[in-house]
Amino acid sequence: MLRKHKKLSLLSLGLLSSISLAVQAAPAAQTHVIVAPQCLVDKLADNYTTLSSSESLTLIETNPAGIDALITAKNQRSAIPCGGFMDVTDAWNEYHPKGLTESNRAQSFLNGYTHPKKHLLNKSSNNYSIKYQNQVNQLLKTINPQDIWTDLTHFSDTSKGQFPDRYAGSDNGVKAAQWLKTKIEDMAKANNRTDVTTWTVATGTQYKQPSVVVKIGNSNEPGVVIGGHMDTLNSSWELKPGADDDGSGSMTVMEVARTLISSGMNFKKPIYIIWYSAEEMGLVGSSYVVKDFKNKNIPVDAVLQLDMTGYANQNDPTIWLITDNVNKDLTAYLKTLVNTYVKVPVSETRCGYACSDHASWDKAGFTASFPFEAKFGNDDPYIHTAQDTMEVLSQSHMADFAKLGTAFAVELAEPTA
Ligand code: BES
Ligand code: ZN
Repeated sequence: MLRKHKKLSLLSLGLLSSISLAVQAAPAAQTHVIVAPQCLVDKLADNYTTLSSSESLTLIETNPAGIDALITAKNQRSAIPCGGFMDVTDAWNEYHPKGLTESNRAQSFLNGYTHPKKHLLNKSSNNYSIKYQNQVNQLLKTINPQDIWTDLTHFSDTSKGQFPDRYAGSDNGVKAAQWLKTKIEDMAKANNRTDVTTWTVATGTQYKQPSVVVKIGNSNEPGVVIGGHMDTLNSSWELKPGADDDGSGSMTVMEVARTLISSGMNFKKPIYIIWYSAEEMGLVGSSYVVKDFKNKNIPVDAVLQLDMTGYANQNDPTIWLITDNVNKDLTAYLKTLVNTYVKVPVSETRCGYACSDHASWDKAGFTASFPFEAKFGNDDPYIHTAQDTMEVLSQSHMADFAKLGTAFAVELAEPTA
């Protein structure tokens, strides 16, 4: 305890001196406010200032070099995993509760991450039963593992002219977003669907790659969200194919979209297909998407996150359900969907931190879920490196997640005919 205090005061001393430095060196637009586990912050040099810290998490202000350092630190796979970080710059800048001093403001803000409030927003009215077996089974027949493989081959192709990376801050990243959007628009046209709309959501001012949102159906009832993140880390020192993280989830989502769009089926509720930007930079894209849904008062019943669906450790076909930062009932329903439709083993595992975009929805009070490729720790060891290629991925594992996503969409969006 004593040691901790000593460290804190030393830290804040260091901070005082670097505050002025940071202000001089970094223009406001370059400032990032980050929530990170203390064990990760401990690995940073001096390019940050602490705004507040709790037992487990710390709120810091840093600059792009600090973000790079955080990424490097978190990618050092250590014996005791430390967890990722969230970029909360936008939320912090908008956080001005009345009557708080600056340090209380930081403490109260950080509290929202250590003790997230569940404001039962959009509480699902669905009782999570299996109701549309005929329709689901009809669509499952049209899932084509080869489609996923072909799309992923293109999406993770780092050769000239394709995507050396899909980094949120690069032109390659913008190109990847454009490719996804155009692919859906072409698909809608080819299937004469006039009820498919697409739009982009800007990722603040820091990252040029937007998130891509597709709405299937014209209804404005509470919808069903299925998404994954399209971005990779940047390829400044090595190529970033991001085949598993998260090309696999992105192309699994694409297969669900293709299945739905070509089905001719209509639904009572809209289905939103989303590819998030800047997940790797601290869930940045998804936090803007969630904010956009809230601003536009778009209601959402249920969220499915697909991030890493391709690596079946030792050919184990099990689908693993992440149990933290998710809704318990929806996660239990995923188990029923796997048993009914996918018919592979299903088990539970924990990330231990806000490891993907489901956490952005969950934090905002939405009902989210996250099925995953392997038990946490037995997942693809090559992610975030130039070796995150398709070589170690399984076509059938990805197809199983596409089945789960399709069953999720059909059961929850409710076919009308
Ligand atoms: N796909 C990973 C998340 C992941 C990795 C989940 C391994 C389970 C096992 C995601 O793209 C990622 O890298 N997340 C970051 C945290 C994020 C908030 C920056 C991470 O896990 O370090
Ligand atoms: Zn990642």
